[in-house]
Amino acid sequence: MGAKILAIANQKGGVGKTTTSLPLGSALSRRGKKVLLLDLDPHACATLHAKIYPEDLGASLYDIFLAQEGVWSGIWPGIIHPAVLQGMDLAPGSIPLSELEVDFRERSAKGSVLARSLQVLPARYDFVVLDCPPHVGILLVNALVAADLLIIPIQTDFLALHGLKLLFDTLHTLNKVLPSPIRYRAVPTMYDKRAKACTRVLDLMRRKMGHALFNTIIGVDTHFREASALGCTIYDIDAQSRGALSYDSLAEEVLTLW
Ligand SMILES: Nc1ncnc2c1ncn2[C@@H]1O[C@H](COP(=O)(O)OP(=O)(O)O)[C@@H](O)[C@H]1O
Ligand SMILES: [Mg+2]
Repeated sequence: MGAKILAIANQKGGVGKTTTSLPLGSALSRRGKKVLLLDLDPHACATLHAKIYPEDLGASLYDIFLAQEGVWSGIWPGIIHPAVLQGMDLAPGSIPLSELEVDFRERSAKGSVLARSLQVLPARYDFVVLDCPPHVGILLVNALVAADLLIIPIQTDFLALHGLKLLFDTLHTLNKVLPSPIRYRAVPTMYDKRAKACTRVLDLMRRKMGHALFNTIIGVDTHFREASALGCTIYDIDAQSRGALSYDSLAEEVLTLW
């Protein structure tokens, strides 16, 4: 069985996509799974978090997108950084990823470049985690086409559900042409049970998408910010912290899906 591809996406910025990708990937890695994180965001936050600086690199994921089918297997080994966070490998993102819309104007089968390139990864991965950019475009389409599961982090805050229609419209359009519909689950993030707005939004999420909601709720935890400042994971700081335990629980839920 090939790697399971988890796309972490929401067209909104600052909702916890990167703060889900890194700890979830780490939690899976800590459970003995071989995990590769792909940073699909041109802002490269996950890459920088791992103390990898795109401007110092010869190659990034952008090279995979630009290359033609036959050479992907030769490019992957040069862009994968092994065991950067909790044993997890990482392929960095970089600013030029934002130019893909233009670069791909003439490209055929442009939505399935990533999916096809993942079939020739150099190692046997159990999970590939895709940290997606905060907008709807060719990168998101590539991530969704490749995904075995779409995980949507939703910030439990005012207007959190607003704008999700854009993501679901894209999902429905793709589902019409894909062999099987894209499976998805949402995870509430940055939940603060003392804040009325949070509990109200959580209730609304349960009513609107209860069937597709993970049981795990990610609470507010300052350890996440500390981890990104120090270039490590929340498990390196405190594996028993609330935030670390909540991503353990999310990883357990993900593992039950297959
Ligand atoms: N559960 C959380 N508790 C506290 N801070 C969080 C949490 N999740 C995310 N953050 C913070 O919120 C900001 C945005 O999160 P991030 O994961 O980068 O969002 P996105 O990738 O969706 O743009 C970051 O500064 C991050 O540290
Ligand atoms: Mg991000």
